[in-house]
Amino acid sequence: MDFADSRRKPNFTGKIAVAAALTVMCIIVLKQSPSFSGTSVFSRHETGVTHVLVTGGAGYIGSHATLRLLSDNYRVTIVDNLSRGNMGAVRVLQRLFPEPGRLQFIYADLGDAKAVNKIFSENAFDAVMHFAAVAYVGESTMEPLRYYHNITSNTLTVLEAMAAHNVNTLIYSSTCATYGEPDTMPIVETTPQNPINPYGKAKKMAEDIILDFTKSKKQSNMAVMILRYFNVIGSDPEGRLGEAPRPELREHGRISGACFDAALGIIPGLKVRGTDYPTADGTCIRDYIDVTDLVDAHVKALGKAQPGKVGIYNVGTGQGRSVNEFVKACMKATGASIKVEYLARRPGDYAEVYSDPSKIHRDLNWTAQYTDLGQSLAQAWKWQKAHPNGYGSA
Ligand SMILES: NC(=O)c1ccc[n+]([C@@H]2O[C@H](COP(=O)([O-])OP(=O)(O)OC[C@H]3O[C@@H](n4cnc5c(N)ncnc54)[C@H](O)[C@@H]3O)[C@@H](O)[C@H]2O)c1
Repeated sequence: MDFADSRRKPNFTGKIAVAAALTVMCIIVLKQSPSFSGTSVFSRHETGVTHVLVTGGAGYIGSHATLRLLSDNYRVTIVDNLSRGNMGAVRVLQRLFPEPGRLQFIYADLGDAKAVNKIFSENAFDAVMHFAAVAYVGESTMEPLRYYHNITSNTLTVLEAMAAHNVNTLIYSSTCATYGEPDTMPIVETTPQNPINPYGKAKKMAEDIILDFTKSKKQSNMAVMILRYFNVIGSDPEGRLGEAPRPELREHGRISGACFDAALGIIPGLKVRGTDYPTADGTCIRDYIDVTDLVDAHVKALGKAQPGKVGIYNVGTGQGRSVNEFVKACMKATGASIKVEYLARRPGDYAEVYSDPSKIHRDLNWTAQYTDLGQSLAQAWKWQKAHPNGYGSA
């Protein structure tokens, strides 16, 4: 008996020690988990710290905005379903800001209202930057319902969660596509909005929902900034992030992506559609805004957002550049001789689109700084060359 007892005792103590160690480990793991409400720093408002929910933060613009917010000492929660974004971009941000309480990533679909509500109930957000969206004009004409669901309906879900959880500051990503084909240039914020494709219409509807919501008595303390971006190009000047759309989206791609794909030999060349527009060189004119300037506009908008006020701003350079100019700048930036095919006009393309950015300059003291097209493209090209497989090769 005595012998048996003396054998059992150390075993029993050992088991207690193992159980205690496991309990401590569980508490540590739970504490680090975003869903552990009560102890996670993300679940508490903290004086002097602004916690921003960045939807679509794994995407091109959202990741650059997160980088800027973290650099400026904001606390950030990214919510993304990775349908279009890159976990590689999130990993870069996590490596740059590893300290606890700076950045958390939550994988979720904004179309899932229950999941969105849970995220808001477990986190103490001070503001929302709502970037998440599908964002290709051509694709929107082929899959309009997807666009209305993803853009309009998901914005409604985000607003409902904000209302339910008393989060009153919203910076919304809108687009010059909401203007359609205005009769006069440059585009000012009061230019009538007559979007001509489902993408622009879905964004315009989302804007309308936001505006109606802020007019309601219950939400009259909302602080809202709607930013209508023009054509976004470029990437982080320090080469930490870039633009890496999914290969399957190439056919819908934007002009800078096509330029780099042509320079890398992924596509045979560039197609310029329309050389008989009433512009100086006959090709279309657009306003290209560097992503670094764009995210600066977001931070300034967040800083100036005031309860009970809605600000609507164009974010562009105010300078129109022709497609021909863009192609030349692209060849110079990449050093590649790119084959250019000149084709007939594409139906639905308009000759000239450029912004008048004087309102945002006046109200938010924002002016585009990175206005050298060649430099923006050279910067983006550096990242593309170093990451031929996007974030897969990061
Ligand atoms: N890139 C431009 O030139 C441009 C111009 C005007 C406006 N915008 C707007 O800027 C915003 C960001 O665009 P981007 O170019 O960074 O696009 P992007 O595709 O690179 O990023 C969008 C991100 O949103 C995520 N997302 C999409 N649907 C989601 C959902 N249901 N739930 C959770 N996450 C979801 C994607 O996974 C992706 O990470 C969009 O709202 C877009 O309409 C972009």
